[in-house]
Amino acid sequence: MNDFIDYEKAHEYAARYTSPEDALLAEVAAFTHANHPHTHMLSGHLQGRFLAMMSKLIAPRRVLEIGTFTGYSALCLAEGLVAGGELHTLELRPDDAATAQRFFEKKSVQNIRLHIGEALKIIGDLDETWDIVFIDADKVSYTAYFNAVLPKLRVGGVIFVDNVLFHGQVLAEEIKGKNAKAIQQFNDFVRDYPGVERVFLPLRDGLFLLRKIT
Ligand SMILES: C[S@@+](CC[C@H](N)C(=O)[O-])C[C@H]1O[C@@H](n2cnc3c(N)ncnc32)[C@H](O)[C@@H]1O
Repeated sequence: MNDFIDYEKAHEYAARYTSPEDALLAEVAAFTHANHPHTHMLSGHLQGRFLAMMSKLIAPRRVLEIGTFTGYSALCLAEGLVAGGELHTLELRPDDAATAQRFFEKKSVQNIRLHIGEALKIIGDLDETWDIVFIDADKVSYTAYFNAVLPKLRVGGVIFVDNVLFHGQVLAEEIKGKNAKAIQQFNDFVRDYPGVERVFLPLRDGLFLLRKIT
């Protein structure tokens, strides 16, 4: 029915009608585009505003982000934190973590805690109940991240999972490559998972919304 819609043009159009990013986010995006070889990893304007809007609607006390990169999505998700709330974000690479930390320090309210190291290990060490989790690190570990965070997610809490279309590669008849295969396995795994309400949005590279209902 919607075959005639050009997906890329629709996203550009949607971005034009979406609230702009603030000066700090624009600085993170500009810095990342100028200095980083992997700019495609940045959530960017449209998805960033979506995450910020969702966070404001949920009004979380505790947010966990797996995969900080240069800090763009952490800053977006932190916009909805209630007073006294905290966002914990996990990053393996010290260089990216240092970049993100520089941007976090420019915020007036210091409510972002950055942890450097292996995400799975840090998740186990954090004694928190999460209202929102954003899974956005190495694709082969997505199922392990889901299993690790679900028991610590409050009922009614939401897990956002990025790149679930994996550059469109999951749409192929034969899925190739370990990352695309891992994403496909993850998508199948959560589709059959009990007690979780799901919405799969074809936003940017695919964003799964998983709400814990029991
Ligand atoms: C797609 S980027 C995150 C983008 C960021 N959330 C955003 O939207 O701007 C993924 C990040 O996860 C980090 N990462 C990969 N494997 C990891 C692991 N095992 N533990 C922690 N971080 C990891 C990478 O170094 C990379 O910076």
